[in-house]
Amino acid sequence: MKHFLKETDFTASELPALFELAREFKAKRGSHAQPLAGQTWAMIFSKSSTRTRVSFEVGIHELGGNPLFLNKNDIQLGRGETIADTARVLSRFIHGLIVRTYDHAEVEQLAALGSVPVINALTDLLHPCQIFADMFTLAERWSGNNGGDMVHSLRGRKIAFVGDRGCNVANSWILGANLFGMKIALAGPPGFDAAPEFDALLAREGYGGAYEFTTDAYAAVKDADVVYTDVWVSMGKEEETAERIRVMSPFAVTPELFAAAKPDAYFMHCLPAHAGQEVTQDVLDNPRSIIFDQAENRLHMQKAILATLAQAVRR
Ligand code: CP
Ligand code: NVA
Repeated sequence: MKHFLKETDFTASELPALFELAREFKAKRGSHAQPLAGQTWAMIFSKSSTRTRVSFEVGIHELGGNPLFLNKNDIQLGRGETIADTARVLSRFIHGLIVRTYDHAEVEQLAALGSVPVINALTDLLHPCQIFADMFTLAERWSGNNGGDMVHSLRGRKIAFVGDRGCNVANSWILGANLFGMKIALAGPPGFDAAPEFDALLAREGYGGAYEFTTDAYAAVKDADVVYTDVWVSMGKEEETAERIRVMSPFAVTPELFAAAKPDAYFMHCLPAHAGQEVTQDVLDNPRSIIFDQAENRLHMQKAILATLAQAVRR
């Protein structure tokens, strides 16, 4: 059974076919095959979502399947039914499961105990669907959109992640950069390093120490092909809002900081953005800001992930 809980659940050799499928789904939207016909994929969400929820619901529908959205509080999981029982019961009804939650161990348990593919739609630790869509967005630009060459076009490029350098999107970028052969430098205030759980995961994947952390945003963006940021207060961290804004303010992506990257560098943000905090409105509106392409490509890349995982579903 193939799951997508972290970037490295796809091997480097599987990436060209995945990107080719996403490219085909994007090019033939409305007239492609429907590999999820007759299937129901459930989506258990414990956190808010605009892009992830809508792109999965639309994507499953466009692949011929039925999306079943379940707010955690509407099902017995929200009243204490165990993840183990939830996984086993849902596996009797559905063909795949998409989960957005806090504790990454929950998606691992659902994958281990159920008998259907599980996709991580964001945990406190990782956001792999975002990073695969981001990689596709960059590869479209750098490869001229040529299928297998798309993945190759990412190799050797440098991304600078500035701001909350220990958040899920930053962690996923570290894993993704290593998987795709990119360089990554992260800049943010001291005290917001990756969780020990993430360093343990990196070491298990054979990538220990494969990233650069600095408290100097200008050093991180030097020679960067991409400047990336995310909110300073991720979902679940709201109690730390005042402190986070205070210490992260020097790490806002301003026009000056963006100009210190390569002259043709792209600006990226997973969204939602807080203009005036982690990034200025000028940078969000810059012609080299590709934030809405990133958002659109969530749909095409997730359809490719769904179609690939659905091959393993037998009924
Ligand atoms: N980028 C992203 O995952 O957005 P949502 O929280 O709106 O799904
Ligand atoms: N780091 C953010 C990403 C939102 C898509 C959060 O977890 O809230």
